Amino acid sequence: NADEGDSGTYADRMIMEGDPFVLIEGMTIAGIAVGADKGFVYIRSEYPHAIDVLSRAITVARRANCLGKGILGSRYDFDLEIRVGAGAYVCGEETALLDSLEGKRGVVRAKPPLPAHKGLFGLPTVVNNVISLATVPVILAEGAAAYRDLGLGRSRGTMPIQLAGNVRHPGLFEAAFGLTLGEIVDDIGAGTASGRPVRAVQVGGPLGAYFPRALFDTPFDYEAFAARNGLIGHGGVVVFDDTVDMARQARFAMEFCAIESCGKCTPCRIGSTRGVEVIDRIIRGEKRAENHTLLTDLCETMRLGSLCALGGFVPYPVTSSLTYFPEDFGLTAPLASAAD
Ligand SMILES: Cc1cc2nc3c(=O)[nH]c(=O)nc-3n(C[C@H](O)[C@H](O)[C@H](O)COP(=O)(O)O)c2cc1C
Ligand code: SF4
Repeated sequence: NADEGDSGTYADRMIMEGDPFVLIEGMTIAGIAVGADKGFVYIRSEYPHAIDVLSRAITVARRANCLGKGILGSRYDFDLEIRVGAGAYVCGEETALLDSLEGKRGVVRAKPPLPAHKGLFGLPTVVNNVISLATVPVILAEGAAAYRDLGLGRSRGTMPIQLAGNVRHPGLFEAAFGLTLGEIVDDIGAGTASGRPVRAVQVGGPLGAYFPRALFDTPFDYEAFAARNGLIGHGGVVVFDDTVDMARQARFAMEFCAIESCGKCTPCRIGSTRGVEVIDRIIRGEKRAENHTLLTDLCETMRLGSLCALGGFVPYPVTSSLTYFPEDFGLTAPLASAAD
């Protein structure tokens, strides 16, 4: 899965452009492990350089018999094919990706059956991210214990943290799980590029929560972020300074969901459009308290009732904005009562 649709993320692209052979090797090992003789790399069309580099690397690997029939004289066959996506965010979701690979419009499939039981063209299929697969050769070379020794709690190993947005030192920094968000933003990123104070940080792509400075002690690990109603996702960290309007950011999240929704389930398809309208009413100052209640209720419905994480996670950026930055919605107590 090289669709890499999350805002502020580019780790897959950097691996494919910088070391395509580690992905080829990881996919070959995965293929041998599950008994597959064919692998697909689904790459977003916005990555022409990665597509070019990976295509040439596949040709080189075939020539060296690292791909193809009887790999390196063994009894294993495995080959790779690149497929280029057409720009839909939802096609990064594993079952919509399979539909897209089959030549259909990318629509999320109901689970079960899981792709591991019934996936591409009805066959058992393993879907993994580029980073997951590219890490396999490293783990086999260094040993599982060496990898497991890195990290914190249940989040073991390393994470390619991608710093983006209004940050002084943007870039990809691979680190063991466990750094705090503050260390990532202030020490590695050195604060904002604008020189103004950091106000909010969105972690985990367009469906990730916004964290205020008060939560900068959160360790960068899956469980710690989940405990604070956030997510790490693909490791994207997007920084905003104190000029950001968090009501606009919340609206953007809902609008993004409305545009990218595959339309299969009602909470996401209709809820996201209604969500934009409700946020607009709050921004305009219409019955703020009532619309706040309505928005909170809508977010809960989307969180619990959506078929996939597009509709299910979009409440994270919306409710975190409401919770930590209510003043941007005109929802601080005096403002709300004045407006209502
Ligand atoms: C709306 C949506 C978009 C997604 N986009 C991506 C993506 O671009 N790349 C990706 O690897 N996983 C994406 N995922 C997650 C995949 O469904 C799947 O969990 C992932 O590829 C599994 O890989 P991993 O377990 O190796 O991380 C997305 C999920 C959803 C719900
Ligand atoms: S949550 Fe949205 S993207 Fe996911 S299946 Fe439902 S309509 Fe499609």
